[in-house]
Amino acid sequence: MHNIGYEINQKTILKELNLEIEPGESFVIMGRSGCGKSTLLRLIIGLNRPTSGWIEIEEINTSFFSKPEWHRIRYKMGMVFQSSALFDSLNVYENVAFGLRSKKLPESEIKAQVFKSLSIVGLDADVAGKMPAELSGGMKKRTAIARAIAFEPPILLYDEPTTGLDPIVADTINDLIRNLQQKLGITSIIVTHDIMSALKVADRIGLLHDGKLVEITSRAQLKNVQHPLLTEFMKDYQSLI
Ligand SMILES: Nc1ncnc2c1ncn2[C@@H]1O[C@H](COP(=O)(O)OP(=O)(O)O)[C@@H](O)[C@H]1O
Ligand SMILES: [Mg+2]
Repeated sequence: MHNIGYEINQKTILKELNLEIEPGESFVIMGRSGCGKSTLLRLIIGLNRPTSGWIEIEEINTSFFSKPEWHRIRYKMGMVFQSSALFDSLNVYENVAFGLRSKKLPESEIKAQVFKSLSIVGLDADVAGKMPAELSGGMKKRTAIARAIAFEPPILLYDEPTTGLDPIVADTINDLIRNLQQKLGITSIIVTHDIMSALKVADRIGLLHDGKLVEITSRAQLKNVQHPLLTEFMKDYQSLI
């Protein structure tokens, strides 16, 4: 990300954002609600375009991409949307298969990928026939992750993956995020305001504030950070840091 800026309706949401995420690392973006975290993910995944600066994905500058080019690079990235964003009228199988269908694969291949993805996220095969309304929050999140990994993308983006989950379930999702990164080598970008989640899954943490990344620290160096907002985030968790 090179000097990214983003404005909407003359309002600056992001500015002068510079960041390089290493292949295979787990990078957490923290910040208060409304500071532009989801917006940043939308820029990375190409749902919105930056007003200034550019983004490179695997050393390819995406700023002048046409639609077909975005289509290709999109397969490199899976996104786990906030509140899972499952299709309520489709069962788990169809939710996970959704993106694969656009690739016009034979049903046998789609089926194999769906069940492989469900197994990776720790869901039994019999969950495939269930509707989203029948699932617990944790299972919904696992389904959303299965959908995001169905293409086997090298990069996964998570928007507030633990928000709305109770702490025990949240922790199993943190474990899953870490496992996907460490076992499958998936580069992970996780947006959160949940410090417990950040402590569990991050190799590095960036703090987004006033539209800028004001502090970037490794997990190991977190105890030495000075920024008042980060220390505020961490104040009740000193023993874990
Ligand atoms: N489509 C939009 N139109 C106008 N303002 C928007 C739009 N999308 C986001 N914003 C504004 O951008 C800011 C950042 O939003 P968002 O990225 O969703 O924050 P976060 O994910 O950190 O909570 C907010 O102030 C929000 O009101
Ligand atoms: Mg958000």
